[in-house]
Amino acid sequence: MSSFNTFKIIAIDGGAAVGKSSTSKGLAERLGLMHVDTGSHYRTLTSAILSSGEDAEEREAISKILDALKLSTQIDGRTAKLGINDRVPADSDLRSPEVNAQVSKFAAIPEVRKKLFAYQRSLADLAREQQYAGLIMEGRDIGSIIFPEAAYRFYLDADEATRAARRAKEGQTDPIAARDRMDSTRQAAPLVCPRGATQINTAHHTLEEVIEKITHLIGS
Ligand code: DC
Repeated sequence: MSSFNTFKIIAIDGGAAVGKSSTSKGLAERLGLMHVDTGSHYRTLTSAILSSGEDAEEREAISKILDALKLSTQIDGRTAKLGINDRVPADSDLRSPEVNAQVSKFAAIPEVRKKLFAYQRSLADLAREQQYAGLIMEGRDIGSIIFPEAAYRFYLDADEATRAARRAKEGQTDPIAARDRMDSTRQAAPLVCPRGATQINTAHHTLEEVIEKITHLIGS
């Protein structure tokens, strides 16, 4: 079978506001892939836990809430979105200042990550069933933990000023430096550059250049 016909798994990792989503969506469009933003999964669980009034210290209560949540998937364009009890939350709810401020705390809880691990891996089967050419998944631990076997792994980075300017342009209040610190120093699945991943500094390139570079590297 030629590489053109082989189902591709592409892992895109990196800190907050480094350009993972724009790059992943652009590549999904260009290469016919299913796109998954795992940051939104952590945001969805964070929002569900916060709306039941618990904070990140209440581990037992959080476990009970997680047990009761039924995960589902809704496909919107090329993006597979996580639903809770068959409802996909609005993007504005997932990117509220409160969720931005709390999501790293909840993402550091092993039970929260455990709730998502098998679900995230199962999305490769869904993408195959739906006859996508592959899956592009973005996050913090995709090339290291979720799909360590992914043939294509990329780690995006950019300087802090560029990233802060991107969030400000989107009109978001988002403590990106603090989130990165928590995400990369936690015990469970910390943000790392996966072994063998290609590093790309997105501050030095336009979005189109980054998409072109990755397309070239994966040989499509
Ligand atoms: O990509 P994002 O900024 O929307 O992600 C929100 C948070 O979710 C991020 O600060 C840490 C967490 N996250 C994670 O722990 N693991 C992932 N694979 C993706 C996101």
